[in-house]
Amino acid sequence: MVYVGNTEALAKPITINTLAAKKRAGEKFITVALYDAPMAAMAEKVGVEVVLVGDSLGMTVLGYPSTIPVTMEQMIYHIEAVHRGNKRSLIIGDLPFMTYATEEQALHNAARVMRAGANMVKLEGGAWLANTVRMLSERGIPVCAHLGLTPQSVNKFGGFRVQGRAQEHADQILDDAKRLTDAGADLLVLECVPAKLAKAITEAIAIPTIGIGAGRDTDAQVLVINDILGLTESPPKFAKNFLIEAGDIPGALRKYADDVKSGVFPEDSHIFN
Ligand code: KIV
Repeated sequence: MVYVGNTEALAKPITINTLAAKKRAGEKFITVALYDAPMAAMAEKVGVEVVLVGDSLGMTVLGYPSTIPVTMEQMIYHIEAVHRGNKRSLIIGDLPFMTYATEEQALHNAARVMRAGANMVKLEGGAWLANTVRMLSERGIPVCAHLGLTPQSVNKFGGFRVQGRAQEHADQILDDAKRLTDAGADLLVLECVPAKLAKAITEAIAIPTIGIGAGRDTDAQVLVINDILGLTESPPKFAKNFLIEAGDIPGALRKYADDVKSGVFPEDSHIFN
């Protein structure tokens, strides 16, 4: 099956309302983390609903060992490029490390990300961010929260590790998800958590969840374009190279979208328990 989507619906820009309606209808949507105009244009053509200009660009594009060195200027440069290439997908722009540590910083930097062409900002962290999420939301800035393995905290975690395996920690992540939802978050990324925790969170909150290494039961999946295209030297367990079977780049994006929508991806080998 080739995913072409509902062309009439896809002709209209994707909004937070589109994604909320998909959650209510039990219809999965597709997210790709990408960083430049040609890939953004290809994602639009294939019908990818959400593109994330992630601070993963520190590793995938700029050659850093983590997302910590990424600056606002680098994020703005790539968000502008993605926006030039794609006018239909909903664009999420990451706020990089230490650019939202206070509410004042968060407002200033979120406004820059939105002016660069994003439709939503993403920030990493739990209940400590609830006031920031509420403040941004009240000022008209949609927010995507991010829980589980939040890579900006890699030094605090002692490495890129699965989060929420112990019951107490799982309960805390679930509680964080509820508090961020109550504060006005519109989407939630769940990264590298056990599949059963991601399922419990997805069922407990009204906003759509986007999983990466979080099992099959989130409302959407996200993968980084470098992983989809087999550009990563030591890919993480949750990644899959779709280029091998598809043969070309648009085909790889289509196969990823098809496999998520039909429930073929993620497979058992991509899931943490
Ligand atoms: O920066 C990024 O690309 C991300 C995704 C991996 C979720 O945060």
